[in-house]
Amino acid sequence: MARVLSGIQPSGQLTLGNYIGAIQNFVKLQDEHECFYMVVDLHAVTVPQDPAALREQTESVAALYLAAGVDPKKSAIFIQSHVPAHAELGWIMTTLAYMGELERMTQYKEKTAGKTSIPAGLFVYPTLMAADILIYNADLVPVGDDQKQHLELTRDLAERFNKRYGETFRLPEPYMPKVGARIMSLDDPTKKMSKSNPNPNSYIALLDEPDVIRRKIARAVTDSGREVKYDPEAKAAVSNLISIYAHCAGVTVEEVERRYEGQGYGQFKKDLAEHVVAVLEPLQKRYREIRGSGELVRVLKEGAERASAVAERTVALVKERMGFLPPA
Ligand code: TYM
Repeated sequence: MARVLSGIQPSGQLTLGNYIGAIQNFVKLQDEHECFYMVVDLHAVTVPQDPAALREQTESVAALYLAAGVDPKKSAIFIQSHVPAHAELGWIMTTLAYMGELERMTQYKEKTAGKTSIPAGLFVYPTLMAADILIYNADLVPVGDDQKQHLELTRDLAERFNKRYGETFRLPEPYMPKVGARIMSLDDPTKKMSKSNPNPNSYIALLDEPDVIRRKIARAVTDSGREVKYDPEAKAAVSNLISIYAHCAGVTVEEVERRYEGQGYGQFKKDLAEHVVAVLEPLQKRYREIRGSGELVRVLKEGAERASAVAERTVALVKERMGFLPPA
């Protein structure tokens, strides 16, 4: 059975971008694959985090996985720092990587643009991500478009290791939605929808109240003209809203265009808001139930045990191949 691994940082409110780009596929893949889904707290601390907020966010993201339909009977759900082997393989991956290839990472460049004091953790962030993936020998990695370059680096590091020390790692492939791999900001369709955007009207948080969702969608920018047509070049804003509609209503882009042929943006946006609410309202109800129960503690403990069993085996093999003297 093919393996799947992915993770999300607990560094702010999760958005509809995280849901469409990643979480929806977490749920979709779990029926026919062996899945590992984690909350990547070790990645979050590459920038300073308030300790209380980090604890709260870590639990919140794990609860959102469950609320969105990730099933702990099918998937291992866990916290990255509960499986210390990630950090260990992360170090080994750092020793394989070159400064030049890490300097070329666009996320690194974006996060450090104009800064003088750059945390070293941000620089080696992608080597820890490579370790996350390779430690499970994952075949598929459900992610949004912004993680593609990190996946390419992961493949390069895996190949480098295999060449140097013998065939050890499988080469993982990204698994992305055909439309919606990059959900854009509601106020500016040239920017990615992001939980770190200081303007809350630019994103829909998974925990936004229904009326907030309706208001944000009503305010979302559109393009000139009035046709509901998918054309990311000429109609970036409307195309983004169409992708969101298609995912939340479970229909194709063509079907969305057909439904609104000859109508303006008004009805389209009203219906879009209701489709988003119809997905997020039940998710929020489940989220509140999960947060109020002891279920999460048990799920995360079991998830870390399942993950550790696989991760520790990989690290032991890697260390043996590299010539580390095993403990007596
Ligand atoms: P993170 O926490 O920034 O985002 C989590 C996931 O959501 C996707 N995503 C989006 N997809 C579509 N449209 C958007 N606007 C949008 N915003 C975010 C991201 O592509 C991602 O899939 N480096 C990763 C976390 C990570 C990881 C891993 C992922 C650490 N180790 C191993 C996969 C495998 C990150 O920062 O994602």
